[in-house]
Amino acid sequence: MLEQIEFTTKSIREKTNNFIPQVGIILGTGLGGLVKEIIVEFALPYNEIPNFPVSTVEGHSGKLIFGELGGKKVIAMQGRFHFYEGYSMQEVTFPVRVMKALGVKTLCVSNASGGMNPKFEVGEIMIINDHINLFPTNPLIGKNIETLGPRFPDMSEAYKKTYVTLAKEIAKENNIKVSEGVYAGLSGPCFETPAEYRYLWRTGADVVGMSTVPEVIVAKHSGMDVFGISIVTDLGVEGVVQNVSHEEVQHIAKMQEPKMTLLMKELIKRI
Ligand code: HPA
Repeated sequence: MLEQIEFTTKSIREKTNNFIPQVGIILGTGLGGLVKEIIVEFALPYNEIPNFPVSTVEGHSGKLIFGELGGKKVIAMQGRFHFYEGYSMQEVTFPVRVMKALGVKTLCVSNASGGMNPKFEVGEIMIINDHINLFPTNPLIGKNIETLGPRFPDMSEAYKKTYVTLAKEIAKENNIKVSEGVYAGLSGPCFETPAEYRYLWRTGADVVGMSTVPEVIVAKHSGMDVFGISIVTDLGVEGVVQNVSHEEVQHIAKMQEPKMTLLMKELIKRI
C-alpha cells in the first residue's frame, strides 16, 4: 500500500505543480455546492489518477479538485467511494491516505443521514461529535504500516471538539439552526427497518448513514483532525418512520445545501 500511496502522490504532485493542500474535503451529499466556492487551480478526474478506485457509475468518474477556499489551500473529493458499491475498505479510504501524503492536516466531511433522535426534524443539520462503527469491518485490519500510523489508534476525540464549538458559533452568528450528535455508520445499501432505527437510537446514535466512518478512522490513524456535518434527510423516529427514497434524500439535502456550504466554508476559513 505504501508504494501505491507514494506513486499516486508523486503523480498528483507532478500534475498540480506541487500543490500542497492543508485541508481535505470529502464533498458528500449536501455539500456539492461548495465546489462553486472553491477558486479552482487544478481538477483531476479520478480515472486519470493512478491507483484511484474506478467509479462504478458510468459517466461519473468523480474529480479531485485543488484550489483555495476561505483563504486555505484545499483538496476536495467530488464524489466518494462507498463500501456498499463493492469497494474494499482500503479502496474507500485510499484517497484519505493520499491527502495525508500531500500535506493535509484537517479532514472535513459531510454526509446525509436518517435521524433517530426524536428532537430532530427533516432537514436538520447535525454537527457530528462522535461516531459508532457498525460496518462489518475496519479499514485498519491487516498488517499495520507504522509509518502511516499506530497499530491501535486513539479515537477518544475522533471529531475535534474545538471544531464542534466553532461550527456552533458560526451557525449562531448566521442564524442557522444546528444540533450535535453521534453518527452511526453502517454498510447499507438498505435503509433501516423500524426495529433497526430503534436499536440504533437505544444504543446511543442520533443519526445513521452509509459513509464517513471508514474515512474518519483512516484520517485519525494518520494523525489528522476531523470535522463532520450531517444533513438529516429522513426520520427513523419511533412512530414516525416513513418510506425513504434516494430521491427524497437528495431533495432534502439540496434544500439545505446553502447552509451546509456556508458552515463549511466559514469553518475552513477560521481553522
Ligand atoms: N439510513 C441510512 N443512510 C441514510 C439514511 C437513512 O435513513 N438517510 C440518508 N442516508
